[in-house]
Amino acid sequence: IFGAERKNSKGLNMNIISESTPFFAAIEKFKETTWSAGPLVNGETLSGETNEIVSPFDTTKVVGKVAFANNQAIEQALAGADASFSSWCSTPVEVRANALQKLADLLEENREELIALCTREAGKSIQDGIDEVREAVDFCRYYAVQAKKMMGQPELLPGPTGELNELFLQGRGIFVCISPWNFPLAIFLGQVAAALAAGNTVVAKPAEQTSIVGYRAVQLAHEAGIPKEVLQFLPGTGATVGSAITSDERIGGVCFTGSTGTAKLINRTLAMREGAIIPLIAETGGQNAMVVDSTSQPEQVVTDVVASSFTSAGQRCSALRVLFLQEDVAERVLDVMKGAMEELTIGDPSSVKTDVGPVIDATAAANLNAHIDHIKQVGTLLKQIELPAGTENGHFVTPTAVEIDSIKVLEKEHFGPILHVIRYKASELNKVIDEINSTGFGLTLGIHSRNEGHALEVADKVNVGNVYINRNQIGAVVGVQPFGGQGLSGTGPKAGGPHYLTRFVTEKTRTNNI
Ligand code: SER
Repeated sequence: IFGAERKNSKGLNMNIISESTPFFAAIEKFKETTWSAGPLVNGETLSGETNEIVSPFDTTKVVGKVAFANNQAIEQALAGADASFSSWCSTPVEVRANALQKLADLLEENREELIALCTREAGKSIQDGIDEVREAVDFCRYYAVQAKKMMGQPELLPGPTGELNELFLQGRGIFVCISPWNFPLAIFLGQVAAALAAGNTVVAKPAEQTSIVGYRAVQLAHEAGIPKEVLQFLPGTGATVGSAITSDERIGGVCFTGSTGTAKLINRTLAMREGAIIPLIAETGGQNAMVVDSTSQPEQVVTDVVASSFTSAGQRCSALRVLFLQEDVAERVLDVMKGAMEELTIGDPSSVKTDVGPVIDATAAANLNAHIDHIKQVGTLLKQIELPAGTENGHFVTPTAVEIDSIKVLEKEHFGPILHVIRYKASELNKVIDEINSTGFGLTLGIHSRNEGHALEVADKVNVGNVYINRNQIGAVVGVQPFGGQGLSGTGPKAGGPHYLTRFVTEKTRTNNI
């Protein structure tokens, strides 16, 4: 469906034995591996203060060691990216695109190691790990093709006889890419691939919890032909590395995915620094809702609610947080949903049977559990799954559903497997729409209805970036569901969409009257 120029990666199908058997044999090899990582500056791995990374599933298991970047590494990385900009920017776009295509191939060749790392370092389930690599591959190939389309030739513009008018797109300079732990490979490389395709050099900072995945991705990018000075890697915290690179006057843009609060902090930092006025591309949180009316099919609703709320332990920015159920259908949906929650397998993310793995770290678990304690007092507990044996050493939060009266009792996004349910009367649909819009967030919206006019009306009136009708609301596919929100959820443009690269470039019009 994408034409000859590009195909999305097909991933792996665990229901086909000839695919799953060699896959699990290959992944087994990385079961005990301990990795070491550090700043990759001009292609050299530097040392620094070392941090031990343990598995979110079992904190007694060491995954590896990561050296965080110190001030000297930060300075060398920025200087290298700055010095290499003009040659990378003038490298033909085909060469840049070919390196990204090669990177996509290398990701597929190293798929098992990367999935093992996603499982062990980030606590991702096997299925999420497979999807993660697939999305990273898709981003590389998509932006490679887009960059060639947009930047291969200048756009010819009209003009009087004898005058040649042309519009050129070119890289902006050093792009700072700051990515989250919930998609340690896909979002990390999505940002980096877009910036590189458009002719920028990159200083990338991964989330400190998932630095090893980022480190391996950068090693593969260098192996694929991205020059070592052009892509620099600085693991560390936001307070040290993040603030140093976003306040530097040499940078030409920032691409950030993470919390709304941090996006605003970066915006302030950019405004205060010396140097050019530069863009911030931010993809942030959500208070994502699903609106279910009485024409919907309860079993289908439940399948999609469970997928949207509890898989990936609710740690997707697209995940469903607030389910609005029209009262005529509410009891039936909740009944089926409670049963479905009982069926969830919680535990070791490296087991193919696991539906819900751990959350990322102790702080996340403590905050989510505190919210569950609080919201159970404010509302009515509908269902809470008991954690099974074997989860004691991990950062687990049990899938929980609580009925509340209004979305207003949720002061912020709770980034875990917690579903809030609100019943509404058919006559209150406009109030539901207003409530959702009142949060100021606008990322994903789910709708379940068999009345198309009704569904499209809700889709139209709720201010969000991605609407999903009669399906789950997670797992946007590159080039199919360009992803990103509005309002408190982000600046746009959408990742994996045809306009994304436009924010990574600057435009030059040349009028030639020779
Ligand atoms: N892009 C992811 C999804 O659609 C969320 O970040 O689930």
